[in-house]
Amino acid sequence: MSTADGHVVVDHLSKRFGAVQAVDDLSFEVHPGRVTGFLGPNGAGKTTTLRMLLGLVRPTSGTATVAGRRYTDIPHPARVVGAALEAASFHPGRSARDHLRVLAPQVGVPDSRCDEVLGIVGLSDVADRRAGGFSLGMRQRLGLATTLLGDPHVLVLDEPANGLDPEGIAWLRAFLRHLAGEGRTVLVSSHVLSEVQQTVDDVVIIARGRLVHASPLAELARLARRTVRVASPDTAGLARLAAVLGGAPTPADPRVALLDDVDTATVGAAAHAAGLELHELASRDVGLEDLFLQLTSDGAGPGAPGGAPPGSGAGPTSPTSTEGGAA
Ligand SMILES: Nc1ncnc2c1ncn2[C@@H]1O[C@H](COP(=O)(O)OP(=O)(O)OP(=O)(O)O)[C@@H](O)[C@H]1O
Ligand SMILES: [Mg+2]
Repeated sequence: MSTADGHVVVDHLSKRFGAVQAVDDLSFEVHPGRVTGFLGPNGAGKTTTLRMLLGLVRPTSGTATVAGRRYTDIPHPARVVGAALEAASFHPGRSARDHLRVLAPQVGVPDSRCDEVLGIVGLSDVADRRAGGFSLGMRQRLGLATTLLGDPHVLVLDEPANGLDPEGIAWLRAFLRHLAGEGRTVLVSSHVLSEVQQTVDDVVIIARGRLVHASPLAELARLARRTVRVASPDTAGLARLAAVLGGAPTPADPRVALLDDVDTATVGAAAHAAGLELHELASRDVGLEDLFLQLTSDGAGPGAPGGAPPGSGAGPTSPTSTEGGAA
């Protein structure tokens, strides 16, 4: 077990509040040097999971560890894990700097660190202003400054983009990328995929407390695109074309085929080469946000992500080059 690394491991974690199974046998890993989006709709169990990771809620079963240790077993946890859960509430009469100064001894860092972190999050100019007068965006930044006090290897941020304007979101994105670039582990929750889609390397998606998808974002993006609907009156010819491209006509209508992991140009070229008359040739990309909704909607059971989104499962790989189609 390495003590310096920032691997986060959630292992068969469950939490029940009375009748509510908030987190249900959840397992996933978060890796250093990457920004991981922890995604799910409202009530999916994101905050509860993060609270268990931070030792604030006791799991019903399972474990959540950082570098192999439970948060409560880490000697100086704030030096290892920096956390901001929900839009933090600050003492309204206290300045940003004083807010951090109160925390510095608990974290075990000198006063000078307060000005450092205020600089890092771009709050130096307002360090002496009362936090009570801060905008939501400024409060989010102050929350981030708080998490950075102990120069932690792991950052856990619950919905840090909430309430930020586009400029604030762009700043946050660059900031999180920078932190991951330094080799830190960045775990950031959101209920909107599009909000973090340009920020994250990996996604962990949960719904109703259960894991529905975990992968690099690029893999999820692959699932969301490259489905082509093609129709021809020549059903035998269409079946041959579909077979070449690793698919088959739909059971409902032999004049229609839905082909995964391929683009319209490839299908068009193959049809042309085969002399096949086409009546329809259309891209049916579901898009990342739609796929996210599909994965997390009620119909989607865990283990059967999204009721088979396009391209999921053991789909055939495209026989053609992905040039132009996959970028
Ligand atoms: N302390 C608690 N007592 C009882 N039920 C709770 C408690 N905390 C959370 N829950 C319930 O657990 C479920 C998961 O809540 P949680 O806050 O973890 O979801 P979330 O994914 O963070 O949602 P959101 O996107 O709205 O922040 C919800 O049904 C919630 O009502
Ligand atoms: Mg939450």
